[in-house]
Amino acid sequence: MSEKKDPRKITTHVLQEMKQAGEKIAMLTAYDFSMARVLDDAGIDVILVGDSASNVMAGHETTLPITLDQMIYHASSVIRAVNRALVVVDLPFGTYQGNSKEALNSSIRIMKESGAHGVKLEGGKEVEDSIKRILSAGIPVMGHLGLTPQSIYKFGTYTVRAKEEAEAQKLLEDSSVLEEVGCFSIVLEKIPAALAGEVTKRVSIPTIGIGAGSQVDGQVLVLHDMIGLTYEFHPRFLRRYANIYQEMTGAVKSYIADVKSKDFPNEKEQY
Ligand code: KIV
Repeated sequence: MSEKKDPRKITTHVLQEMKQAGEKIAMLTAYDFSMARVLDDAGIDVILVGDSASNVMAGHETTLPITLDQMIYHASSVIRAVNRALVVVDLPFGTYQGNSKEALNSSIRIMKESGAHGVKLEGGKEVEDSIKRILSAGIPVMGHLGLTPQSIYKFGTYTVRAKEEAEAQKLLEDSSVLEEVGCFSIVLEKIPAALAGEVTKRVSIPTIGIGAGSQVDGQVLVLHDMIGLTYEFHPRFLRRYANIYQEMTGAVKSYIADVKSKDFPNEKEQY
């Protein structure tokens, strides 16, 4: 690994400086040690231990079933691999909406048991008290507005959010709430690019978009989608940088053929 890497350890303050300097923030998801090590070695700024683990790691249809214990397991595996990136962990569905004490307890468990650097939760005004309580313990919070997958049964579909004036207005208000309450950043998922641009101009904290266009302070994608390990998901915003499913299938098929033909192991591959 000879490439010169940015030596700065990423903190919430560094992200703020990046926004001010107009330097884009690169964030990806990871859920395990091996993948997190690749991301950190490559120089990613932020690793999100997303509750998308429920879909890509556990095969569930939604993010709802994943538990706090399971998120802590994923987060602690990621943390063991990371030297530079900021690691943010999703509070899973049902662990912060009930009341602010529950939100605080869930966040403390994540921070204590995994060693992560902050938490992310979905929603605006309706989760304001939970965010305040978490922040009061010194835990950095990232917000998440727009398409919030934990509310999929309320929305009914995964289509673009906030296209209508009333929803766009609510999103603008919610972004101000998240900024004022003290979130260090906001994820904007699947909303019109112009609206994401407006939020980004209005708030002083960095915005990270997924399907929210280019006028945001950073981008996030689900790792398994962008490396082509998943193949069933084709939203317009997804750029695939590799076809790992095909690569792995080829490797596994070659291995099977070598075992069946007795080519593997050869003389040099045994004791
Ligand atoms: O869980 C997740 O992967 C996320 C990203 C899509 C932002 O929340």
